[in-house]
Amino acid sequence: MQQLSVKHLLGIKGLTRADIELIFETADTFKEVLNRPIKKVPSLRDITVANVFFENSTRTRLSFELAQKRLSADVINFSSSSSSVKKGETLLDTVNNILAMKVDMIVMRHSSPGSPHFLAKHIKANIVNAGDGTHEHPTQALLDAFSIREEHGEVAGKKVAIIGDILHSRVALSNIFALQLLGAEVMVCGPITLLPKYIKELGVKVELDVRKALQWCDVANVLRIQLERQQIKYFPSLREYSLYYGINKKLLDSLDKKITVMHPGPINRGVELSSDAADSDHSIILNQVENGVAIRMAVMYLLAQN
Ligand code: CP
Repeated sequence: MQQLSVKHLLGIKGLTRADIELIFETADTFKEVLNRPIKKVPSLRDITVANVFFENSTRTRLSFELAQKRLSADVINFSSSSSSVKKGETLLDTVNNILAMKVDMIVMRHSSPGSPHFLAKHIKANIVNAGDGTHEHPTQALLDAFSIREEHGEVAGKKVAIIGDILHSRVALSNIFALQLLGAEVMVCGPITLLPKYIKELGVKVELDVRKALQWCDVANVLRIQLERQQIKYFPSLREYSLYYGINKKLLDSLDKKITVMHPGPINRGVELSSDAADSDHSIILNQVENGVAIRMAVMYLLAQN
């Protein structure tokens, strides 16, 4: 059996192209399972997984839990807001107490960049990073690239524009790494204040004009303005952001070709994306959500072998 080169999925950084291709081939099989009347396989029947979330989530948490249940794993859920973290317990103590209950795998979302990497140095269980602050969100990038492959046949050679708040986005960084590994061309677009200073060092094109970015790309991955991570004002108002960077159906229809619109969610409708664009036939946003379950099944199934 083919295996991943890693014990943990801490980020796309650290994966090889062969790892991603193996995850995609495995996800193809699981997607087929998910479309059968009986959507369950016994692949992780002897495995117990803890979903440890220190930050809010809808899609990622539900998608991981559903993926675990489809694989017949035993599942426990931890949410920091109702836990003893509130009484001062450390991250490592919290996780070690969960592992003492004979848990095999930890899926963790945390607001601190690098927290899953810290855990990996101290625990034996497999770790899946479900988003660490502004750093990485590897399963989101995998499901995004998988959705592009599904829509366009392959990722290699495709032009992907990532548009919006790049500075605070873990999705942007993981997408850049994954798309480049798979041979896509990547552009980032947004107000200059929302582009990190080091961005060109990552080998991406940079564009400040959203129309030019849309005209260039085959796929636009539109990101949310992450107000919860912004301590200062990066642009005058949401209204102004929407005016200059918001994508609507009229703008999409005015392009020379039909492009694919993606969004990792949650969408701020009327800010980065209008409803008529989000719900148009350009959009594969709900396909991304559907593919997330198959991708997460593949990741956990493969990691459990290592
Ligand atoms: N895409 C994403 O991470 O969504 P949630 O924050 O709802 O999990």
